[in-house]
Amino acid sequence: MTPQGRFISFEGIDGSGKSTQVALLADHLRAQGREVVVTREPGGSPGAEEIRALVLQGAVDRWSAETEILLFTAARRDHLERTIRPALAAGKIVICDRFADSTRMYQGLSRGDLRGAVDALHTLMIGLEPDLTILIDMDPAAGLARAKARQTVEERFEDFGAGLQEAMRAGFLALAQEFAQRFRVIDGGRGVDAVAKDIRDVVAAVL
Ligand code: ADP
Ligand code: TYD
Repeated sequence: MTPQGRFISFEGIDGSGKSTQVALLADHLRAQGREVVVTREPGGSPGAEEIRALVLQGAVDRWSAETEILLFTAARRDHLERTIRPALAAGKIVICDRFADSTRMYQGLSRGDLRGAVDALHTLMIGLEPDLTILIDMDPAAGLARAKARQTVEERFEDFGAGLQEAMRAGFLALAQEFAQRFRVIDGGRGVDAVAKDIRDVVAAVL
């Protein structure tokens, strides 16, 4: 079945402003009279939110990268079945704060090269890519400072440190070239309004 809606994902390092911009874009599209579903990963359905607590809390070495690939993909499958596919089938715009590109980066790159395993499991169990992926690119030190200022218990990945954030930034930019057709890169190191305007323009061009 071909989804009739539109699927937009946001990617970028921790603290790059994804959640902030997801909310602003949703407000903007709703003001135009569009039906929008805002969701996030890991999470976005009751079962996937339970898995979220398992993967984002606790010691840095709580799970191996391989186990994480399985947990994130399990959460994504539930999210897809219960939230994303029904919304797309109903013609809605789904805006998702992170999706499979985050697994390609965080599990595929952070502790050795597991990109092949991530992609194989994605093909087998998910098989859906966003129509548009907005990559908010910014300096990792500034992003980490913003993220750390939030003070939550979900800091497992932030605790991997600045080195990981540097690698993730470079990895995301490489991914944007690999999937150039669906990716748009936005400079996130500016004020909230300037970033939001660029995102609105990019989305308008695609919708
Ligand atoms: P992410 O979801 O990518 O981790 P958030 O949207 O939660 O990022 O933003 C992280 C923190 O930085 C929040 O406290 C948010 O208010 C702040 N923030 C977001 N965008 C900007 C911006 N353009 N300039 C300064 N601070 C920002
Ligand atoms: P998120 O709540 O988006 O954190 P932030 O707002 O700080 O960007 O995501 C939490 C963490 O989960 C983030 O550090 C990245 C990680 N993550 C993965 O490692 N793999 C994944 O597939 C996803 C979706 C997230």
